[in-house]
Amino acid sequence: MPFKFFNFFKDNLNILNLANLINECINKIFLNKLKIKNFRNHKSFEIDLKEQRAIVLGCNGIGKSNLLESIEFISQLKSNRALSDKDLIENDSDMAVVFGQIDFRDDLKLNLFRKGPKRIYVNESILKKQSEIKNYIRSVCFCSNDIDIVRSEPNYRRIWIDKVVSQLEPVYLDLISRFNRLLKQRSHFWRSESFSRKQSSDIVESFDIQMSIISTRIFRRRRRALLKIKPYVEYWHNHLSKSKEQIGINYLSGIQNISPEEEEEEVISKKIAEQLFNQRSIEALTGKCNFGPHRDDIEFLINNISVRKYGSSGQQRTFILALKMAELDLLSKTLNVPPILILDDVLAELDITRQNLLLNSVGKDSQCFISATHLDKFNQSFLGSSQMIHL
Ligand SMILES: Nc1ncnc2c1ncn2[C@@H]1O[C@H](COP(=O)(O)OP(=O)(O)OP(=O)(O)O)[C@@H](O)[C@H]1O
Ligand SMILES: [Mg+2]
Repeated sequence: MPFKFFNFFKDNLNILNLANLINECINKIFLNKLKIKNFRNHKSFEIDLKEQRAIVLGCNGIGKSNLLESIEFISQLKSNRALSDKDLIENDSDMAVVFGQIDFRDDLKLNLFRKGPKRIYVNESILKKQSEIKNYIRSVCFCSNDIDIVRSEPNYRRIWIDKVVSQLEPVYLDLISRFNRLLKQRSHFWRSESFSRKQSSDIVESFDIQMSIISTRIFRRRRRALLKIKPYVEYWHNHLSKSKEQIGINYLSGIQNISPEEEEEEVISKKIAEQLFNQRSIEALTGKCNFGPHRDDIEFLINNISVRKYGSSGQQRTFILALKMAELDLLSKTLNVPPILILDDVLAELDITRQNLLLNSVGKDSQCFISATHLDKFNQSFLGSSQMIHL
């Protein structure tokens, strides 16, 4: 009898493994299948994913980042690396396809055309509202360009914070696009003839009112998100650097005479409206709106010292990793499901202690993809629990 049971158990081991995997996927986002066609340098590639951790392994230029980019693309419908979606289509092809199956249940397909907009299908029905892809798959990605968030111009930090806020509150994207539209119309107005006409002050007045309301909403949401993410950044920074340093994250806004604690929507909006009014004469000459969410910045500090200005290359890298891991934790907590974590080129420039601390922390609660050119940097326990994707 025991022998019979053993045989039954052995025969059904695969089914049991699958069942375990499905059980594990409840309350997680698990990409269990990925197929890509004519995506960057990949003519055709297909993989079934079985482990929480996957290492994408191969030499320089083989297509590791491209593969990870396809997962980023199907989850966020944009890529951090590509200026245009068309760059993602293999150079000699007219169309690229990314297919992913989530939790052994939902089929996501993304068709990308050289001419015309991309199309997204969920379980073979077209997704009319593309932002709804978030109901099926989400990801947090780290790639080598992300160092710009800490190191480069304010624009990178604004893009980062807008991405974080929009994941937490999807309506935020609408606020940003309304603000950008207003900014464009306002600049167009100053350059046109219409502002010399009689009714021009009514038009500017209307711009000021709309811009001050929308700017206030963006300002409050960005600041709120930074407050929420800060404890996680501090935790991850201190964990990865094995230190107990004080982290500072400050929102640097151009709004004058505003206290860091000011929360009242009406007060903030009034201050912005006043400032917009006061700068009208300069704006009429330059055609540029000199302050607002499009000019704000974020300051990252370690023990009150600017990471951007004075941080070493390794410190900046640890900080950006802490930001990304904090983003993952914050999203997991807010959404109750951990997004997929994509780590491209993450191990370069990290010392061995930091590498191990990072590797030991990823792929437990969320599915994790990590690229590497060789396996020296991975410890045995990580290798033992990872699926290898050889390119
Ligand atoms: N649209 C495209 N069509 C065809 N090939 C492309 C396209 N875009 C990029 N490539 C090619 O894909 C190749 C692989 O790039 P990728 O960045 O994925 O390599 P990698 O394995 O990550 O390398 P590394 O280890 O250096 O990071 C490059 O040689 C690049 O020229
Ligand atoms: Mg790469």
